[in-house]
Amino acid sequence: MSASHANDPVPEDRIEALIAAHRPGYGLARAFYTDPAIYRRDIERVLHRHWHCLAHESVIPRPGDFELFYFGDDTIILTRAQDGTVRALLNICRHRGAEVCTERKGNAAFFVCPYHAWSYGIDGSLQAARLMPPGFDRSTFGLKQLQTTIEAGLIVVSFAAKPLDFSHAARALRASCGEYGWDAAKVAHRRTYALDANWKIAVENYVECYHCSPAHPEYSRTHALERPPERIAGMNAAMEARTRALGVSIVSGDHWRNSASGGEAVDTFRYALHRGVSTGSEDGSPLAPLMGRFTDFDGGATSIHLGGTTFLVCYPDHGMIYRFIPKGVDACEIELTWLVRKDAQEGRDYDLGRLTWLWSITTEQDKRIIEHTARGVRSRFFTPGPLAPMEQNERRYIAWYLDELARA
Ligand code: FES
Ligand SMILES: [Fe+2]
Repeated sequence: MSASHANDPVPEDRIEALIAAHRPGYGLARAFYTDPAIYRRDIERVLHRHWHCLAHESVIPRPGDFELFYFGDDTIILTRAQDGTVRALLNICRHRGAEVCTERKGNAAFFVCPYHAWSYGIDGSLQAARLMPPGFDRSTFGLKQLQTTIEAGLIVVSFAAKPLDFSHAARALRASCGEYGWDAAKVAHRRTYALDANWKIAVENYVECYHCSPAHPEYSRTHALERPPERIAGMNAAMEARTRALGVSIVSGDHWRNSASGGEAVDTFRYALHRGVSTGSEDGSPLAPLMGRFTDFDGGATSIHLGGTTFLVCYPDHGMIYRFIPKGVDACEIELTWLVRKDAQEGRDYDLGRLTWLWSITTEQDKRIIEHTARGVRSRFFTPGPLAPMEQNERRYIAWYLDELARA
């Protein structure tokens, strides 16, 4: 039994006391990363309340295409129906709960449950249920579906019965990823990293760049975000001027807020790359054809934080989707997706090894530091320390998380 499983679960009323005991400006206490009761509440109050990007829509281009996505205890069948509509179906048979889709991805006209052979259309409707009595109403036993929307080519889903208003986040995605041409992009590569750590340790690591300089020497050679914001203000202003000169208008803005506002949280911010750097590559040189409204490189990148688990980075020649996927109190995954222009051909227009080099090496480094942190935090001797000024996004993420966790 691991140390975390040896913890005594925190009773529900103790969770409120732990939230109240949080010291602003400090990290979270150990129980938030190790306690099964808090993890359950994470799912119900934080993760099932907010929107999550599942994929770029180019993963299911044709009618009948489907792919499975996992999130917490749930499996989602992402499908494209004959009329082109994208649906996120829960992979739970409406008879006795077996998983109806057992292939990871493919193209199908029906999903036939392997247990008693109830048969569902690609749109989730129950088409046949053998030997059920006359009068059985198939129309009320379709697969359950998540709310789904598509913006800038990104398929975004919510588990909530009444999802948060996504209209502002949608505008923010159009005004950022849209300018980078993400709706005319395709997936060049995807890779999943399994982490032996609570999902919040992975997200907290992503949102701060205090660790970039010591942990990511390769990233720090090309991205100015490794420096405190006041030291790169001039570089950022020069980058914005270059972006405007290209006739590209990327609207950045901070609309990070809790769910009490009724709307989804989104923050779009831009930052300069180091002098002479075009994109997120090993040596700063271009990787792929320019995308969207870009006719040249502007020496910058755009970063988007959306809800609790979705993070996006736009370069003029490729895009990155980072999905954080909880897998239990002690485990999570990070999925990276590399996007390029839809008409770009591997080998002719881009080299996959070069394209994926920087964020592969950076994520391997992150996996190591996240798991080092998870092991340290499991000790009962761990006490949270003070956050540095460069960890301002982590401070905000923690405050947001606790607020969500506290609200019924
Ligand atoms: S559980 Fe699916 S048909 Fe019975
Ligand atoms: Fe990192």
